Amino acid sequence: MRQTFKFLVGLVVSLGILTLATSAVVQRTTRRWFEGEVRLRAELVVSGARETLAAHWNDADHKDLDRTLAGITRDQRIMAAAGCNADLALLTSTPSFPPSFSCTQTGPHVMPPLNTPGQPWSVWHQSASLPGGPVLVSSIPIENEGRTLGFVMLVQDLSFAELREARTQRFVLIAFGILALVASAVTVLVARFTWRGWRREINRLARGEAPQRPEFQPIVRDVRDLVERIMVERETELEGGAWTPQRLKLTLTRHLHGEKVVIVANREPYIHERQSDGSITMRHPASGLVTALEPVMQACSGVWVAHGSGSADRDVTDRRGHIPVPPGEESYLLRRLWLSREEEQGYYYGFSNEGLWPLCHLAHARPIFRTEDWRYYLEVNQRFADAACEEVDSEDPIILIQDYHFALAPRMIRERLPQATVLMFWHIPWPNAERFGICPWRKELLEGMLGNSIVGFHTQSHCNNFMECVDRYLECRVDREQNAVIQHGRATLVRSYPISLEWPVRWLKTVPSAEECRAGVLAELGLKPDALIGVGVDRLDYTKGVEERFLAVERLLERNPELRGRFTFVQLAAPSRTLIERYRELNDSIELVTARINERFGQGSYQPIILRKAHHEPPDVFRYYRAADVCYVSSLHDGMNLVAKEFLAAREDERGVLVLSQFTGAASELTEALIVNPYDTDEAAAALLTALSMSPEEQRERMRAMRAYLAEFNVYRWAGRMLVDAARLRRRERLTGRLTKQWLGANPD
Ligand code: F6P
Repeated sequence: MRQTFKFLVGLVVSLGILTLATSAVVQRTTRRWFEGEVRLRAELVVSGARETLAAHWNDADHKDLDRTLAGITRDQRIMAAAGCNADLALLTSTPSFPPSFSCTQTGPHVMPPLNTPGQPWSVWHQSASLPGGPVLVSSIPIENEGRTLGFVMLVQDLSFAELREARTQRFVLIAFGILALVASAVTVLVARFTWRGWRREINRLARGEAPQRPEFQPIVRDVRDLVERIMVERETELEGGAWTPQRLKLTLTRHLHGEKVVIVANREPYIHERQSDGSITMRHPASGLVTALEPVMQACSGVWVAHGSGSADRDVTDRRGHIPVPPGEESYLLRRLWLSREEEQGYYYGFSNEGLWPLCHLAHARPIFRTEDWRYYLEVNQRFADAACEEVDSEDPIILIQDYHFALAPRMIRERLPQATVLMFWHIPWPNAERFGICPWRKELLEGMLGNSIVGFHTQSHCNNFMECVDRYLECRVDREQNAVIQHGRATLVRSYPISLEWPVRWLKTVPSAEECRAGVLAELGLKPDALIGVGVDRLDYTKGVEERFLAVERLLERNPELRGRFTFVQLAAPSRTLIERYRELNDSIELVTARINERFGQGSYQPIILRKAHHEPPDVFRYYRAADVCYVSSLHDGMNLVAKEFLAAREDERGVLVLSQFTGAASELTEALIVNPYDTDEAAAALLTALSMSPEEQRERMRAMRAYLAEFNVYRWAGRMLVDAARLRRRERLTGRLTKQWLGANPD
């Protein structure tokens, strides 16, 4: 009602202004019309009397002229008349002729200019005002036989024109007033009906029905987006608090209706190995991906499709390659896929780890692309995609694809299950477009990834690089505002989801206190009780900067002789991808550097670097984290690096210092670490010294801040955010699908 009132006031005010402006224009126009009429009339009257006037113009007495002029003034509107001769002298005038008008005053307007003799005289009209009202004075030349005798001046009453003007104006005002009222009423009625129609359409939309009016269609998307956003935000808010396995599970139930999650990842979370004595052992691989995803799968249940790489894997699975895990607390299924030696060589070692791995990491290794490897990559991607499709139990399942091993699988899955929600997380960096352009199959890789509903990276800069690549190498639309790529009418969202750890980390339950760990590690390594311990934990990979790390340790000892014999750096190095030449080279060079430094600074049983090249199970790794004074993560390039986060998770005692490479994704989150450039040996050595001499208070302060961050930004949040985004997308796609179907149904044309 208030809205209508406001609208009406606005309408009336604007119509009022319009009316005033119109009436001013009407007044001016009517005045011009009336004056024009009076002028014409004057000229007609004089022209009717011209002959008589001319005949008596030069009479000695002016009787006849007076009579003629008096006859002219009989016209009701002509008040007075006068005759002026060619010398501008007054010949005669009617008695009422106002003295304020004279022949000499008017003459110059009627006569031709002085320097143009022979020109005709002209008619001149002049508005004036007398005490009785406005008048028009018309001066009209009188000619006889081509000679101008003089001119007649007529004074005409214009007050009747004013009267007419006032009447016209009144009429215009009334007409406009009525028009304004009618227009307002019609507008209000139309607005009301339109508003009602819109409201009906919005209600239909909110109920998930199709809009009926075509002009409404363009706003459907906006309204739907808004409703979606509000719903998800409200629900997420209601759940509130920290992200836990329970909350993740709840999110899955609430937003995704508890739908089964299928994960596709090359590395399996549990590897069964046959030992030389014939027994079977199970180990957890050294893999950040597994560290992060295992807890998520435990919380969500579902199926993890992976390469069965263990020597006893087949012996413990069923016919379909299934085995429930984790052993003893079975909560999800591991589906193992068997690869031939050639497949593993071409797809895993070849294309994935000699091609894509060095392509995506800035670590000075040359990517090698072989056509044969590409064929295997394609083939194995298809096999994993098929396996994932076999594991789902609906037409629109949720499938999470992990890492660079499966860039093609998303599109393959999409082709089989067009309605699936396919999410991919790329665990390593994504290079810029120039570097990515090196790959001969760059287009195919990007096309494959656009089969995803969402593609996730650790950082926004990797997202930007990805969109830059898509923009440069594919025909599609890149929406930088929405961070999405649109191809063939389908959108792939590109989002950053920094990965993290479960919180608290489960292994800590089985690991002794920091003091006990320290005592155990000191004894194990034969170190003195006051020894200072540095630790590094990695797969033996050239991207991890292990050589650079050891050089920093060397520089530290070189510059600080008091630390020799006291500081020991323990490197736990899990052998990795050893069939690849570059990894074998790394293995050798690390051995050499270690031997050289130990030779240089070792004394008796003291060795500054202890290199443990072996697989270590998580509880063992956590013992070392807890025993250490400093942990140095020196990656030359790393998507995230979970070792840094694991070290922090291990330190419930709030002691120890993290020295962290600026080239890890973690560096932008763990800002209280000592951030270094691993290529700068002096800087890294100085940071190690700072760490070793840092006061317990400062250690505590830094640890506390970073641990609080990790408690909140844990892996449940990582997965939760992705699933909530997926849920939102699903809801939107379902709605769009339904709306489209209904829309097409209602409008078959
Ligand atoms: O960093 C990339 C990554 O896939 C990690 O997610 C994982 O920690 C590591 O590589 C494992 O490598 P692989 O499976 O080849 O041993």
